[in-house]
Amino acid sequence: MTGLSFALLATDGAARRGRISTAHGTVETPAFMPVGTAGTVKAMTADAVRSTGAEIVLGNTYHLMLRPGAERVGRLGGLHRFMGWQGPILTDSGGFQVMSLAGLRKIDENGVTFRSHIDGSAHALTPERSIQIQHLLDADITMAFDECTPFPATEEQAAASMRLSMRWAARSRDAFVERPGYGLFGIVQGSTFRDLRAESAAALQEIGFHGYAIGGLAVGEGQAAMFETVGFTTPMLPADRPRYLMGVGRPEDIVGAVQRGIDMFDCVMPTRSGRTAQGFTRHGTVNIRNARHAEDPRPLDAACGCPACCDHSRAYLHHLFKANEILGSMLLTWHNIQYYQDLMAGLRQAIADGRLDAHVGELQQGWVAGDI
Ligand code: GUN
Ligand code: ZN
Repeated sequence: MTGLSFALLATDGAARRGRISTAHGTVETPAFMPVGTAGTVKAMTADAVRSTGAEIVLGNTYHLMLRPGAERVGRLGGLHRFMGWQGPILTDSGGFQVMSLAGLRKIDENGVTFRSHIDGSAHALTPERSIQIQHLLDADITMAFDECTPFPATEEQAAASMRLSMRWAARSRDAFVERPGYGLFGIVQGSTFRDLRAESAAALQEIGFHGYAIGGLAVGEGQAAMFETVGFTTPMLPADRPRYLMGVGRPEDIVGAVQRGIDMFDCVMPTRSGRTAQGFTRHGTVNIRNARHAEDPRPLDAACGCPACCDHSRAYLHHLFKANEILGSMLLTWHNIQYYQDLMAGLRQAIADGRLDAHVGELQQGWVAGDI
């Protein structure tokens, strides 16, 4: 086998049920990847992440190059061994995080120079260095180095930004070292412009990648524009390669994108929300700090099998957050990751059964009915 492989197992409308095979194992799709930015899915052990059914986690070039350093992780045997996660890892390429986190950024044809958000030190990222860092981390899936076009952008701005990303995509491809079970994904840019998305998708396929991501969305355009862009972009991508919608999203965003042919997702939503007392449930979102939970003996979500729901009451979770106990963040993060993994498992089953639209209708009914 050369590179990473993807098997399309079933379709239902535009939605796909598939399986990605990597050097560190397989991933059933549609899949949600918990975000492990700095070599940890925050507040979760690797075993706990695995127990939720998650099969792949995301790591970040930007954070790990600054601390502890890619060469150090490489000397320690790669990111899998370093963080104790034996399954597949996808790493983002860094440009997006530089633009959202670093200080004093400068972007030119060669790449980006920036100052660390940790200590202000000067650094540079180019397509070649980003791919090398992801190799040192031993990422199963490496992302091409790109610019996430800010929103809103004029068509001229979006075109110039997208074409720069396409030149960087070709350099990323040249720098990538092919190994069995490892893959490189290109990232389609072009903001919400159909012609630019088509030009970008064609340029990437000309270069040739193991998978194709859609970037530059969930940046303020709103759900309707995001769904429209995803809906016209996925038919521009090859059916026999995985498709990844970067940085998305809330449960309702994921469901709509799966219906439009997306296979992979990542988002800080379940982990970040878990640390700020927001829980995702079959009856919509719940803020566990709310006073109505103070003496509620019921579980957060009676249908959930996570420790927060099996072993504890809403009243206890409420108390933990009121008392600023770190176990509150741990339990709610665990629950949210479990909720997202259960959501994906339900979507996979519904696609296999050819009843995705009906299943989505049931999910949405639960969310709008609300928590009682
Ligand atoms: N994460 C969310 N959006 C993007 C994007 O457009 N590019 C990259 N590299 N990462 C992202
Ligand atoms: Zn739970």
